[in-house]
Amino acid sequence: MPQSSVSYIIIEALYNKKGIMSSAHVITIMEILRVEHLTKEYGSGSTLVKALDDVSFSVERGEFLAIIGPSGSGKSTLIHTLGGVDRPTSGKVFMDGQDVYAQDEENLAIFRRRYVGLVYQFYNLIPVLNVVENITLPVLMDGRKVNEERLEELLDILKLQDRRENLPNQLSGGQQQRVSIGRALMNAPAVVLADEPTGNLDSKNSQEIVNLLKYSNTRFNQTLIVITHDESIALQADRIIAIEDGRIVKDDRIRIKA
Ligand SMILES: Nc1ncnc2c1ncn2[C@@H]1O[C@H](COP(=O)(O)OP(=O)(O)O)[C@@H](O)[C@H]1O
Ligand SMILES: [Mg+2]
Repeated sequence: MPQSSVSYIIIEALYNKKGIMSSAHVITIMEILRVEHLTKEYGSGSTLVKALDDVSFSVERGEFLAIIGPSGSGKSTLIHTLGGVDRPTSGKVFMDGQDVYAQDEENLAIFRRRYVGLVYQFYNLIPVLNVVENITLPVLMDGRKVNEERLEELLDILKLQDRRENLPNQLSGGQQQRVSIGRALMNAPAVVLADEPTGNLDSKNSQEIVNLLKYSNTRFNQTLIVITHDESIALQADRIIAIEDGRIVKDDRIRIKA
């Protein structure tokens, strides 16, 4: 059994009339994310685009999933829909059993900050904030106190301790992406969603970023979903989903988590 499921064990016990337990069994809930019949359309009439077309699948807690597919196949739309960023035209997204889009916009924003860590190809850092400020921004926006211990651990892991005060334009691409990973991980999200996180980096920096994402996947037991064009990265995942024209055309488990 994956370690990820240990804290999610529910013991269902049956008691007889005297209140003595007569039988019990353990149900293990490992699912963190489930999407049902997701459809996303843009435009209407002759300009209608079906970016997602009846997509259903579920993801286990702690899983590392790679999503591949040609440009325009709906990968970014899928990740935004999973992350509570982009409301689907129809269908449902359940995160940790919660119907994500049943919430109003205010609660959806809170949900995004607490459950989801997003990493983009072009980092999306705030140019006027330094490394520490960029990393802690989601916590402060959530009106919470910064967990200093976690911040220091992340700065260590990301090898950014000596860059704490630097602004994004004073950092290399690899360093900027490490900051954006720090920002994604600061709130200890259940799921990290990365949209071509290495698309702008050379192969050495790419592998370093993937190593960091994989490390947080195991160290913090975070579910990791990565869109990538890089086959060598996809092959490091536990599972690969291929998308074409907004539909899942392949779903292969290539590794069982120890
Ligand atoms: N905001 C939008 N408005 C209209 N069409 C969009 C929008 N976002 C994406 N699309 C279209 O949806 C399809 C899927 O896009 P996207 O999810 O970005 O694909 P991918 O990430 O696989 O390249 C494409 O045909 C794209 O042009
Ligand atoms: Mg994309």
